[in-house]
Amino acid sequence: MTETRPGTNDGLALNRALWDVWATVHGSAPTDLFYDVEGFVAGRQTLRSLERGLAGDVTGLDLLHLHCHFGMDTLNWARLGARVTGVDFSPIAIERARLLAERTGLPATFVEADTQRLPANLAGGFDLVVATYGVLCWIADLDAWMRGAATALRPGGRLVLVDLHPACQAVATLEPLLVDWPYGGGEPHRETVTGTYADPALSLPAQETVQYPYSIGEIVTAAATAGLTIKHLGEHVDAEFDPRGILVRGEDGRYRLPFGDSHLPVLYSLRADSPATH
Ligand SMILES: C[S@@+](CC[C@H](N)C(=O)[O-])C[C@H]1O[C@@H](n2cnc3c(N)ncnc32)[C@H](O)[C@@H]1O
Repeated sequence: MTETRPGTNDGLALNRALWDVWATVHGSAPTDLFYDVEGFVAGRQTLRSLERGLAGDVTGLDLLHLHCHFGMDTLNWARLGARVTGVDFSPIAIERARLLAERTGLPATFVEADTQRLPANLAGGFDLVVATYGVLCWIADLDAWMRGAATALRPGGRLVLVDLHPACQAVATLEPLLVDWPYGGGEPHRETVTGTYADPALSLPAQETVQYPYSIGEIVTAAATAGLTIKHLGEHVDAEFDPRGILVRGEDGRYRLPFGDSHLPVLYSLRADSPATH
């Protein structure tokens, strides 16, 4: 089946259906080792050094967290002193995020919306826009996503994006080394998913998804086209966790993607700033 881009896409409905299911089970399945919600409620910090480093001190800042899922990371930014708003297109995720906020007593606003069409009332309201780990592969219209993030920022505000590196996303298996995704191009890639990354043992009904591969060049160009200034682009050959379930854990506890005698990048991190005056 072909798909018209950008904008109209049945991928949105298919992907939302998948995320509604995942938002129901993530952090609530009996074997919740991946998210460890109970640890979070008890005070565990779930944010990782990459996004914390790029965000800097968030005390007193208005922070917009895009793709907030069930709100755990959003609420951790609140714990660090930010005034937080989380956005996700899954109504189940938003409902769970609100419940988690209630349970922890942490102040947060959660908004159900497609990040390619952010509500107008979010425009210009934020010092910081953050999105992490599993973001752009769900986005058909990369330019609209970047425009939305840029529009949400106040003059001088910053976007922090940490996501799977497209080189890592392209690899299906390490042994044998099998590549089953294009490096970029943004063309819709249909895939039937069973189970979830958060609990490989959990059996879930098969679900069709549509994902979109973007190269580093396409991502940086989209940020620049949206009027942002690139301040930092990192390509990281190791990670604190294995976002794909295929990486090799070193003796230092970090996960890598071996490639010959070297490694391919696993994550990238981008900081892009809004002009000081709009
Ligand atoms: C892998 S999660 C983000 C990772 C997050 N840091 C976490 O808690 O694991 C991806 C999130 O993006 C959301 N999402 C996917 N496409 C979206 C869209 N077009 N608009 C808004 N949210 C979307 C999903 O519902 C899901 O909650």
